[in-house]
Amino acid sequence: MSERILVGADHAGFALKQRLVAELERLGYEPVDVGPRALDPADDFPDYAKPVAEAVSKGDVARGVLTCGTGLGMAYVANRYPRVRAAVAWSPEIAELARRHNDANVLVLPARFVSEEEGMEILHKWLDTAFEGGRHVRRVHKIDAGTARP
Ligand code: RB5
Repeated sequence: MSERILVGADHAGFALKQRLVAELERLGYEPVDVGPRALDPADDFPDYAKPVAEAVSKGDVARGVLTCGTGLGMAYVANRYPRVRAAVAWSPEIAELARRHNDANVLVLPARFVSEEEGMEILHKWLDTAFEGGRHVRRVHKIDAGTARP
């Protein structure tokens, strides 16, 4: 069975999201597009981060992909949900390290700072890289345990 991956964007990430959904389908995944369905310059990124983050947080899906202009707003929202580790990745190297060291389960792409082709390369790297485990396990556990907070 193919893996369901939730995908969301705001207006700044809309065009890239369309490419991401098509690419995930091409690769044999089952992308679930949480919207927007059409370009709406007045839409708000938290409305699309929420369904993706909720589904990952609850364990309904293992992974999600979000995109907005900088990636930052989407990451702020997604990282408020327990067990969500959303990583803004602007290069394949960042995506690789986000998987290997941080076990990032949500990829966030900064649509205004990467080309669509770069976005595809980043997506591929994030999809194909495994968590390294080892010393990184306790660090990831400390995120979810809240021990990194003051
Ligand atoms: C929308 O203009 C922009 O603020 C949004 O896409 C994102 O970059 C927010 O973090």
